[in-house]
Amino acid sequence: MRKPFIAGNWKMNKDLKGALELTNGLKRNLTDVEDVEIGLFPPALFLPDVVDACTGTRFAVGAQNMHWEEKGAFTGEISAPMILSVGATHVIIGHSERRQHFGETDETVNKKMHSALKAGVLPIMCVGESLEQREAQKTLDIVSTQIRDGLESITSGQMARVVVAYEPIWAIGTGKTATPDQAQQVHATIRSILAEIFGDDVAQGVRIQYGGSVKPDNVKSLMTQPDIDGALVGGASLDVDSFTALVNFKEA
Ligand code: 13P
Repeated sequence: MRKPFIAGNWKMNKDLKGALELTNGLKRNLTDVEDVEIGLFPPALFLPDVVDACTGTRFAVGAQNMHWEEKGAFTGEISAPMILSVGATHVIIGHSERRQHFGETDETVNKKMHSALKAGVLPIMCVGESLEQREAQKTLDIVSTQIRDGLESITSGQMARVVVAYEPIWAIGTGKTATPDQAQQVHATIRSILAEIFGDDVAQGVRIQYGGSVKPDNVKSLMTQPDIDGALVGGASLDVDSFTALVNFKEA
């Protein structure tokens, strides 16, 4: 059985005080949750404080991005060993906002995947199509290429530590969610591609999150799909009550 993984990608939101208020609120509400994995992805600047505030919880804390090199002259960047050094364990790689605004490609995503896994940081690799690509019926081709190229030369052993997030770009921050059927179709395709590359055993163990306007009122219908194993949440992860409701999706 795949353990559901609900993660909050805070993007470029909150200041230090707000980040700690959110973390402490979630800690009050969710410390006892055992059957759902919870992940917090604050801005990198706040990672040490959020890690500290999560002491005594099972929350995973991670960065929203990293460089593929371990160190060097890359002004403004952070690396996998740096993430580990402050006690964070995870990283989001290849988010569509990084692809759209910061020139990330499947090739740089792949370099980052190798770097994270080599260092021992657990990656969430994001894929997803634009509205134009969906309307041109190219969704499955686009996602297939992103999966194959992003995971090039990753071993089966490494793949067991990877989470995949399917985030259709047209559903991010727009209030337009993919229907549960639309999402399930892409998730099932992703799992069959993973089975082709890594074998069925590994593919059956990989958690595939859905992201794009996940809210307390639609989370349950998404999570009941057979190949949807979690959510990567933007807007609704910034508020204690709504993120709490998402983690408690079974009660929705
Ligand atoms: P929203 O939940 O705000 O649509 O953002 C989704 C997302 O991009 C999570 O990484």
